[in-house]
Amino acid sequence: MITRVASITLEVPDLEASIGFFADHIGLTVTERRGSSAYLRARASHHDLVLVASEDERTVLQTLNFESDDVTGDVDRAIRAGARDLGTVEVAGADTAHIVEAAGGIGLLIHSTLHQIEHAPTPGLAQPEHFSHFNLGTPDPARLIQFFVDGLGMRNSDWIGSPEDPLIGWLHCPVDGALHHGVAVLKTEDTRLHHISYEYDNAQEIVDRVDNFVDESHFLVWGMGRHGTGGSIFAYIEDVSGMMVELGTGMIRIGQDPRWNGPQVWSLDDQRGVDEWGSSIPEAWMAKRVDVAAPSALRKAP
Ligand SMILES: [Fe+2]
Repeated sequence: MITRVASITLEVPDLEASIGFFADHIGLTVTERRGSSAYLRARASHHDLVLVASEDERTVLQTLNFESDDVTGDVDRAIRAGARDLGTVEVAGADTAHIVEAAGGIGLLIHSTLHQIEHAPTPGLAQPEHFSHFNLGTPDPARLIQFFVDGLGMRNSDWIGSPEDPLIGWLHCPVDGALHHGVAVLKTEDTRLHHISYEYDNAQEIVDRVDNFVDESHFLVWGMGRHGTGGSIFAYIEDVSGMMVELGTGMIRIGQDPRWNGPQVWSLDDQRGVDEWGSSIPEAWMAKRVDVAAPSALRKAP
């Protein structure tokens, strides 16, 4: 069973600059470095982000990384649902890991529960609790959402639009207390990684981080607001590699939160779905993109 959406592996043109961004503005700490890869964590899990130095100056998604209590069983199911088997890989912080490729060249890394690191709070601005979710753009969201259901055993949370033709759809892991979404799928012209998100303890921590980030040339892409779908307070910023990162807090936990009443379809006309406080999705937010690198074509393992 997939128990958690744990991190992503992102190839970046300037590894040191990206590490600096995620340390200064998100609050991640480098756990270890291996070759051209850096493993960064929020608190106790071995990592909540893997950054890899790019050899061709591009920012690209290598893999979406899932924690599993049965790696072999989850890989088998993904392959039965149409994913391509790319075999086992070595991942720091995990005993076993396996990579498959979903339609559209999307790399999925399924690994065992990450090792835990002794956590010591750092002075200054707050560290996030953990990785929250990724948002993938695709021309056919309903199809990709169905793959996450059939291939990874995830469950639908909400849709904006309709389940057959959503603007956005969200999915959660099949465990009690799972975040309302570990996976979000957005309708876009081509396949892309749209954004990733980290979950903080409270809104003040995000306000403090936004105050620290914003200056005469750095502003929020969108926010702050409160998503109706998932219930979280959000602020979106862009990192030095062009990756958009959402700082969030207060997301519904499935089965443990009175706000959760099962999957809902939100009308495209219902402003509250994207922001209960009234803002609309900015064009700049919709336009964000990071290319997806088919893992079968990658030059090196993550
Ligand atoms: Fe998000």
